[in-house]
Amino acid sequence: MSDTNSPGQPDSGNSGELSWPEYLTGGESRGAVPPGAQAAEPEGHARPRRVIGTPPPAAARTLLATDGGASREAARELPAEPDDPRRAKRVEKIVAACFIVAGLSGLAFMVFYGTIGVGSITNVLHSNLALGGSMALMFLLLGIGAVLWVRHLMPTVEMAEDRHPMAATPQERAAFKETFQQGAEASQFVKRPIIRRSLIAATIPMAVAPIFLLRDMGPLPGTSLDTTVWRKGLRLLVYGTGRPITAAEFNSPGALISVGPEGYLENDNAMAKAAVSLIKFRPGELVYGPPARPGGPSVRNKVVPNWTVDNIVAYSKICTHLGCPAALYEQTTHRILCPCHQSTFLATEGARVIFGPATRALPQLPIGVDSEGYLIATGPFNEPVGPSFWERS
Ligand code: FES
Repeated sequence: MSDTNSPGQPDSGNSGELSWPEYLTGGESRGAVPPGAQAAEPEGHARPRRVIGTPPPAAARTLLATDGGASREAARELPAEPDDPRRAKRVEKIVAACFIVAGLSGLAFMVFYGTIGVGSITNVLHSNLALGGSMALMFLLLGIGAVLWVRHLMPTVEMAEDRHPMAATPQERAAFKETFQQGAEASQFVKRPIIRRSLIAATIPMAVAPIFLLRDMGPLPGTSLDTTVWRKGLRLLVYGTGRPITAAEFNSPGALISVGPEGYLENDNAMAKAAVSLIKFRPGELVYGPPARPGGPSVRNKVVPNWTVDNIVAYSKICTHLGCPAALYEQTTHRILCPCHQSTFLATEGARVIFGPATRALPQLPIGVDSEGYLIATGPFNEPVGPSFWERS
């Protein structure tokens, strides 16, 4: 069969087929009609031709001009119109339909996100299905539309280019501009406004949809990171029993108990910052000094005198290094130890840091007693609790 000709062999008579040497020389090697003189083709409209045999290296197949630019225009020419305008019109409608449905899928994604709650497992399943399905459909239809557009409306031309110096010459820049304009024309992007507009409309929801996901990050924290639920008058409830405690009941020097604010003991979010260690000391053990300046760097390294009751001191239980519970207490040395990275705080001196990576003393909670003798907070912490990177936000 003539189809099996080897590269360089003469063609066996099938006039529509060229061997590679003939293809590269425009058919001159076998005396074919010269390029541009084919009577059956419309002027300026080069149809892709069937080529027989193993292709030579890419360098030999380049369509770029090798004669200093004289033939560049002819070599780079792309057909501006598809071969079959009626078929192209059909494909155009299909592509536009794909883009429009893709855009609607993007809108559906946003509607599903706003309307399907996630309060239960079933709702989460429904939400995932609706969001995943609508987003998958959006990308699928965009892809199908793009593939149909490229395969059926843009010309099929093989082009190769040798490596060349990185800096483009003026001629190359002009050639690029020309190629770009030809490509833009051949892509029909300008000429077919329905495709262009439907594609733009489809991509708008795609760009906006991720913004909706920002809602999942929750409301802005405001000043909530700097404060706890402790306020004046809240009783100190013993963690575990939930009972208030009097100074008289807590009378074993060296003892430490965990307490939380009245009404918040079951609230994990509140307790994550409001947990407090209550420590009883012997008379004369505490070293008193002024409180830290609110809003300024923590300089407190003494116990604030009027924030204690009968040698009972309340310190935040949240380590100022990275927020672990600093709950180990060595009563003979009065050291509070954080087990995470061994930060150590001296309880008799305002819980100042004496070892480890923490840089700030444990905040002290001002306490007093109410009319019934129960321990209460006489105010909030006067500095942020927890890790130091929030401390002066
Ligand atoms: S979190 Fe306490 S020492 Fe690191």
